[in-house]
Amino acid sequence: MHRLYHRAVTVSLTSQDPARLAVDALVVAVAQQDGAPVVLGADRLPKELRAQLADAAALGITGAADEVRRLPGTGLAATVVVLTGVGSADALTPEALRRAAGAATRELAGTGTVALAFPTDDVAAVAEGALLGAYSYTRYRASQTAKLAPVATIQIVTAHPRDPAALAAVARAEVIAAAVHGTRDLVNAAPNDLYPAAFAEAAKAAAKDSGAKGLKITVLDDKALAAGGYGGLIGVGQGSVRGPRLVKVSYSPSRPKAKVALVGKGITFDSGGISIKPAAGMEAMKSDMAGAAAVLHTVIAAARLELPVAVTGWLCLAENMPSGTAQRPSDVLTIRGGKTVEVLNTDAEGRLVMADGLVAAVEEKPDVVIDIATLTGAQLVALGHRVSAVMGTDDVRGEVVTAAAASGEQFWPMPLPADLRAGLKSKVADIANISDRFGGMLTAGIFLQEFVGTTPWAHLDIAGPAYNERSAHGYTPVGGTGVGVRTLLALLEGRSPAV
Ligand code: BES
Ligand code: MN
Ligand code: ZN
Repeated sequence: MHRLYHRAVTVSLTSQDPARLAVDALVVAVAQQDGAPVVLGADRLPKELRAQLADAAALGITGAADEVRRLPGTGLAATVVVLTGVGSADALTPEALRRAAGAATRELAGTGTVALAFPTDDVAAVAEGALLGAYSYTRYRASQTAKLAPVATIQIVTAHPRDPAALAAVARAEVIAAAVHGTRDLVNAAPNDLYPAAFAEAAKAAAKDSGAKGLKITVLDDKALAAGGYGGLIGVGQGSVRGPRLVKVSYSPSRPKAKVALVGKGITFDSGGISIKPAAGMEAMKSDMAGAAAVLHTVIAAARLELPVAVTGWLCLAENMPSGTAQRPSDVLTIRGGKTVEVLNTDAEGRLVMADGLVAAVEEKPDVVIDIATLTGAQLVALGHRVSAVMGTDDVRGEVVTAAAASGEQFWPMPLPADLRAGLKSKVADIANISDRFGGMLTAGIFLQEFVGTTPWAHLDIAGPAYNERSAHGYTPVGGTGVGVRTLLALLEGRSPAV
């Protein structure tokens, strides 16, 4: 169960004439210029096809982002030509290219071989977008899998197919895509298959399968957690017959230039516990382990890329269930390190397991600790489905925003107003786990802050962006999105300057 459930995709570079590429589909980009669609690099296409595309607008093509159209491959060796919109011709950003490439490969699921001829030297963006879009999750399908299978081979047309920088960009894109796909696979797994112990096994298998050197995984089971004083994980996990786990996955290069800790929320299913959630929409709570999945695959990717930075990932795994053994509202837990928490709402469970994870992480004195969690519904209220939030120490928060912008993920800086701490006062314990409703995302951040001490820190709330319940767009499929992986990896790369 811990294997990857998508077919491996291969990418190669070619300088061949796109018209002569014997592929199932040739993808070209269409931009919007002065309100009209412009086929980019049309001069490289055969006359007959150019004529056919001369009045693209009459074919209903606009060049808008997420518009993917298939036409007969007139004059091409390819069977079909695929037009993918990049949006405004004045904003051909790397992310616009990623999304256009990814929208095309995503729409082409079921197609074997695809070539992309984009008029850009940015092989990195095209390769990454195309790979991110070449994903489908078919683990639970008994039939129709061929029709759903992701594109198997991708060729990218470039003037310099043997340029070492371009080849390195492809290799990096493959590592990134594998990490994002691996994260999506875990998020999409059904919670009857992916419970805490199964997640821990999946982590071991993924590390082993990666073939990367310098990775080590240790797993604390319920007994070890009780012995270690991990009261948050124990309290949240005690309602389930499937006990909690804390997985530590570390990557240690030989001469690390920095030491980074990553902590991920891994609630394999969040029913709310005794403070049970409404039935409508509860199924989405299988995605409540997306932070832990992103951490796992970021550490593996860092190892595969041999980054000169030591990274330790902490996966805080538990299933939040109501039962005769579940924790109650008014229970008091002792988090690792000794702080006590009054549990006023068992549905505010993420912060309880993350508190244990953060304490364990900072005990090892990292330079910086970053946590990532599907922590609050309030994140969706504040920023919607596609923009994640980042809170924390000013400089680390800024570092995350910069890394996100470079990688094409949307993270927006949010404050941690000190006055919100008062709302978390408990009548009996050091802190309560809930406050009033307003500013709920920030309150959760304030709660976590209590457990990081003086270590530079950022908290990423990915509640909305981690799981796409609407429709697919760009390279983003329905279901698990893998958000966070690219930002965390960019941050690690930023902490490991080339020498
Ligand atoms: N896992 C949820 C947050 C969530 C909500 C993630 C929607 C993704 C989509 C979290 O454990 C939770 O239930 N939070 C509560 C906290 C409240 C009880 C203070 C919430 O946001 O309602
Ligand atoms: Mn909850
Ligand atoms: Zn939760």
